Amino acid sequence: MFRILSKEKLSANIFCMVVEAPRVAANAMPGQFLIVRVDEDGERIPLTICDYDKEKGTVEIVFQPIGSETLRMSLLEAGDSFHDVVGPLGRPSELTEKDPEELKKMKIVYVAGGVGTAPVYPQLKWLKEHGVLADAIEGAKSKDIVIMEDKMKSVAGNLYVTTDDGSYGRSGMVTKVIQDLYDEGKRYDLCVAIGPMIMMKFVCKLTKQLGIPTIVSMNPIMVDGTGMCGACRLIVGNEVKFACVDGPEFDGHEVDFDQAMQRMKLYKTEEGRAMLEAQEAETHHGGCGMCQ
Ligand code: NAD
Ligand code: FES
Repeated sequence: MFRILSKEKLSANIFCMVVEAPRVAANAMPGQFLIVRVDEDGERIPLTICDYDKEKGTVEIVFQPIGSETLRMSLLEAGDSFHDVVGPLGRPSELTEKDPEELKKMKIVYVAGGVGTAPVYPQLKWLKEHGVLADAIEGAKSKDIVIMEDKMKSVAGNLYVTTDDGSYGRSGMVTKVIQDLYDEGKRYDLCVAIGPMIMMKFVCKLTKQLGIPTIVSMNPIMVDGTGMCGACRLIVGNEVKFACVDGPEFDGHEVDFDQAMQRMKLYKTEEGRAMLEAQEAETHHGGCGMCQ
């Protein structure tokens, strides 16, 4: 059992929990995810690791209840426990594999959309710990759902907060801020975008025009997180990939977002899943990636 040490409401419908999971914390790297199960019969919920403390043996998760299982999660309190916390899974952010001296020469901007702000934080924190200060654009629909602003400020070079309705920070979606910064003369060598699929799609469309290489995190299309369900199949370049086994990060300019979003819709129904399974045959599943 994995004890919940603290629970905080970041906004009306976004929760943050610190959970005791020493083995996950000991091996966690920015960009990786974990799977939780509320109880023995619970569904597996993949969530990006939002922070970790290797000494205390804790991991932090941020989530928004969107289905019955995440709703059950949101009802747990400090002192309760998860039945399972499995991880870390997926590949660490590719920036953690680069020489920090090379990263220091680059101008990097993170684009964090809504709940996607949470997985951006550990990447910025890791970079800062290695002497690299990246900028960040944080977008939310309105002021009441801007999350983790102080934490983001503590690890980013410049933090640009924007709200769709203009109720706080700059006004407009994250893509407007990318364009505005470009028009103001900012030239970035790399963009990392994490947030809703539609945001990542339009960020990539813009950064392609502006010539800024862009990494995206395809966490939103995962279901079981093990390579077995076939939910997170996507086309990157001309290749079939699985977000949970091959990612979650990919070259955003190579991802076919329209196909991925269309597929997500189909995957939600039993009929759609059967159709995808028939169409995709042996490429429907990713394999667990651990048993070759
Ligand atoms: P949201 O819908 O409130 O959008 C957040 C911001 O994204 C907006 O404020 C806007 O600036 C930008 N955005 C949205 N649509 C856009 C568009 N068409 N063009 C340009 N920018 C746009 O976000 P939310 O409700 O907090 O997001 C929840 C989603 O984030 C879920 O789908 C979840 O799966 C996803 N998520 C993704 C990751 C990841 O690793 N990629 C991690 C956590 C959550
Ligand atoms: Fe099921 Fe990747 S989430 S195959």
